[in-house]
Amino acid sequence: PRAPLCDGFDRAVRYLRVSVTDRCDLRCAYCMNEHMQFLPRREVLSLEELDRLVSAFVEMGVTKLRVTGGEPLVRRGIMTFFAAMGRHLEAGRLKELTLTTNGTLLARHAEELAACGVKRVNVSLDTLDAGKYARLTRRGKIENVLSGIAAARAAGLRVKLNTIALAGLNDDELFDLTGFAARNDCDLTFIELMPMGDIAEAERLGQFWPLDALRERLETRYRLIDTAESSGGPARYVTLAETGQKIGFISPLSHNFCSNCNRVRITCKGELFTCLGREGATDLRPVLRAGVEGLALHRAIRDAIALKPAGHAFDYGACAVSGAVARGMNHTGG
Ligand code: GTP
Ligand code: 5AD
Ligand code: SF4
Repeated sequence: PRAPLCDGFDRAVRYLRVSVTDRCDLRCAYCMNEHMQFLPRREVLSLEELDRLVSAFVEMGVTKLRVTGGEPLVRRGIMTFFAAMGRHLEAGRLKELTLTTNGTLLARHAEELAACGVKRVNVSLDTLDAGKYARLTRRGKIENVLSGIAAARAAGLRVKLNTIALAGLNDDELFDLTGFAARNDCDLTFIELMPMGDIAEAERLGQFWPLDALRERLETRYRLIDTAESSGGPARYVTLAETGQKIGFISPLSHNFCSNCNRVRITCKGELFTCLGREGATDLRPVLRAGVEGLALHRAIRDAIALKPAGHAFDYGACAVSGAVARGMNHTGG
């Protein structure tokens, strides 16, 4: 196998997340403003440019590719991009090609994704209550994501539900969500709310629900068996003894996992973010558009990764949030 890219802390970068658009058909309160200004189209890389950029990372040792957004499935022509990335799977360069989606358009694309070699998808679902879902997403209809999940399962895709732990929103739905995942044969991962974007501090502090507390509540009904299993991302998994289902925890705040980080991100305008929780990025678009790629692009990527920061500085204190990042989650796709 190709030698991996390494950073200054000896962490090998094998996992690339590519945000193919900053646009989304929803406006989830924790991710975006209601009146979000999206990038003008000329700023956004063409699918052919994204292909060249991602392929450079694959040549440099990336084996896991996750397509994100915004909402990746709203980008016109995105299936040709998946088909193009499927080449890397067939050639054995990539081990996994996958996406993170809000699920609203999944019913339309599930079969084609499977045909491109996608084996599993992560679908965001924070509540099962239609009214809460509509309020949280500001314009979503829960039926769409539910039919998306069903279509994905019918197409043979594994589904992992991503649920952000939100005090006052879904802290009363823990067992409903767990039951839903079991009935629909989905994995379920809980995520700690990260302080990103320009959301009012008081609101954030009120919503943060640490996963240690969530886990304790889960333990009132289930016996949790820790596993060493990994999906190649930041989640730690347990198995519920009673049902055998797999539950993941992504706890950047309460259990920082930066020392094992294997990931970098590129945005739809060609910026390379070497840490989700830091502001700095390297603009690869000029190198890409200069048409001199090859070595120059490889060198720019290698130099940026060498400077990958040790980790984020997110913190929820008793009465203030620190280490927050002004950039919205839709910019890098989480
Ligand atoms: P798999 O492990 O492959 O299933 O995926 P994943 O958990 O890496 O990806 P997903 O897009 O489902 O992300 C789930 C949550 O984890 C999102 O809220 C991401 O922002 C968060 N996340 C993923 N990688 C990182 C990371 O490197 N740092 C931090 N702080 N959060 C991350
Ligand atoms: N904190 C944690 N996770 C977030 N996501 C979006 N915004 C945040 C945030 N502020 C999640 C989405 C999606 C994944 C890519 O990131 O719910 O599942
Ligand atoms: Fe990696 Fe940065 Fe996420 Fe930490 S916050 S796990 S270093 S991307």
